[in-house]
Amino acid sequence: MPRILNCTDEVIKKAAQALKAGNLVAFPTETVYGIGADATNERAVGRIYSVKGRPADHPLIIHVSSTSFLQKWTTTIPDYAIALAERFWPGPMTLILPRSQLAKNFITGSQDSVGVRIPAQPISLHLLSEFEKLGGQGIAAPSANRFGAVSPTTANDVETELGNFLSMDDQILDGGPCSIGVESTIIDCTNSTPVILRPGAITIDMVINLVGLVSTLNENKMKTSGLVESHYSPKAKVILGTMANFGEGFLALRKIPTPPGAHRLAAPADIEDYARELYNALRSADDRGIETIVVVPPEGSGLAVAIRDRLIKASFR
Ligand code: TXA
Ligand code: MG
Repeated sequence: MPRILNCTDEVIKKAAQALKAGNLVAFPTETVYGIGADATNERAVGRIYSVKGRPADHPLIIHVSSTSFLQKWTTTIPDYAIALAERFWPGPMTLILPRSQLAKNFITGSQDSVGVRIPAQPISLHLLSEFEKLGGQGIAAPSANRFGAVSPTTANDVETELGNFLSMDDQILDGGPCSIGVESTIIDCTNSTPVILRPGAITIDMVINLVGLVSTLNENKMKTSGLVESHYSPKAKVILGTMANFGEGFLALRKIPTPPGAHRLAAPADIEDYARELYNALRSADDRGIETIVVVPPEGSGLAVAIRDRLIKASFR
């Protein structure tokens, strides 16, 4: 499967044609890399599930270039969802809305709702508009990793994850490292007030400031309930704590010193760096044959909530 470094207009047009012909195209977004297929093509979407090894009841997010396509995929859009869309799109936010006829069971995992996002990364937006020029309605794209594994934040990581499962007609567009590094904030907009299902770079405070009352899935509840499966997990065992033993991996903010004999995996200067470097740090432990990673979760609100959410899931076994 070709990996394309220089994403010229011509390359992006060809990638849109490949999608329209039913092939898969991995592409960068500002959050993580996605593995995309024509969201109306059941066979192509089916390949996403087999390439990822993902269970069929896990719904996919549909990516579009403008809110005019939101109306095609959804039915009732509450006023607060319109406010969120106007403020935070294009951007790292997915809205869950009641689905239209266009969103078939093979996209929604047979649920009555559908997830939609307008990404901000220029290559993804360009790809979407070229795809739409060809008559495409939207690109279904989960993170481009094997099911349960760490999301890729570079094209190289996509190749490591999915290279063996993609075919020669599929493509990987290389747009460099993702600027945010953790997946989009998912907001359920099927009730009278929004519910944040997955925290991300559009933070709980940003949502509350715009639309008022918001519910979230409580961090502790998520930790103990059956909702949490092992996810975002490297091969190495992830332990949340402060002290690492000799030979173990260690990940913490730069201001926290490395315990003697531990292998520093990253030393992010701030929360934004932490999110950007998180998945690469987890992957690098596997590359170095490290079996246990001790991670000091960042404290506080904002993007730190999203990082803790992923770390809790990564440490769940
Ligand atoms: O940042 C992102 O959102 C990335 C980039 C590629 O856009 N995509 C991504 O997709 O993270 P994925 O499939 O790896 O994660 C999407 C999550 C899944 O946990 C899925 O269950 C949930 O969104 N989801 C999708 N549609 C849903 C729906 N209708 N109701 C509830 N959850 C939904
Ligand atoms: Mg994923």
